[in-house]
Amino acid sequence: MRWEEEIRLKGKVALLTGAAAAIKGEMMGFGGAAVHLFVREGAKVVLTDIRDDLGERAAALRADGHDARYLHLDVTSEQNWAQVVDAVMAEHGRLDVLFNNAGVSFPGRVEDITVEIWDRELGVHARGVFLGTRKAIPAMRKGGGGSIINTSLEMGIVGSPTSPAYSAAKGVITTFTKSAALQYAKENIRINSVHPGYADTPLTARRFNDPGVRQQLLDRTPMGRLGTAEDIANGVLFLASDESSWVTGSELVIDGGMTAQ
Ligand SMILES: NC(=O)c1ccc[n+]([C@@H]2O[C@H](COP(=O)([O-])OP(=O)(O)OC[C@H]3O[C@@H](n4cnc5c(N)ncnc54)[C@H](O)[C@@H]3O)[C@@H](O)[C@H]2O)c1
Repeated sequence: MRWEEEIRLKGKVALLTGAAAAIKGEMMGFGGAAVHLFVREGAKVVLTDIRDDLGERAAALRADGHDARYLHLDVTSEQNWAQVVDAVMAEHGRLDVLFNNAGVSFPGRVEDITVEIWDRELGVHARGVFLGTRKAIPAMRKGGGGSIINTSLEMGIVGSPTSPAYSAAKGVITTFTKSAALQYAKENIRINSVHPGYADTPLTARRFNDPGVRQQLLDRTPMGRLGTAEDIANGVLFLASDESSWVTGSELVIDGGMTAQ
């Protein structure tokens, strides 16, 4: 058994978006894997998504004695954000961690990207992260600080050969994160981005399971394997915990070496 002070998120309240794929024994996403690490480390967790059936099933981890609850949150909706953050504050009186993780990904050459796809990418990623960050800040201020972690992409730093709209939307997250970090650093609200490489999750399963595509991705990844949801969630846990208390405005790249090339 570990000593109490070794529990990394003890007493913290965490809100996670795009986190419904969090069921043990099924493929998890980054949000889902983070839910499990967060509760293991003593956090009270509010997981959210637009996939309500899956989210409700995931919140059944309460049965293992964890403090976890599911709420519907479409990250593009200002009204939804207000409802969810207000509900967290009413229940817990504080918000320490926000993991802005919801995402959608549409590959395609520039000429083939419709305005609808462009707006959807920018809506979920850019607008979603902005709305969440804006709503979380006053709540975190009440508790004397907090940590916001935004899921970008390795191609939110460099260009993408396959997915320009996705890459552009993730690029907005990269620079927005730094600007917001500067504005709230003095208030101990830390804001960082994570930049995953190719990882097996529900979002990528269909495309990455194509043997030809998989081999291409493996060839591009110096460490010779794709990432797991837990590879990413471990970095998120570090940023959520006080171990990263002097880290803000940074890009945590977790990609098996891909962006180092
Ligand atoms: N898997 C990868 O290789 C990879 C690499 C880099 C970045 N990412 C990013 O990681 C994040 C998590 O994705 P994942 O791969 O773990 O897959 P995932 O399918 O577990 O997570 C994405 C979730 O976002 C939810 N979502 C979509 N639109 C939403 C909306 N409007 N409001 C709220 N939720 C919404 C989906 O329902 C889904 O549950 C995404 O932002 C994705 O872009 C994934």
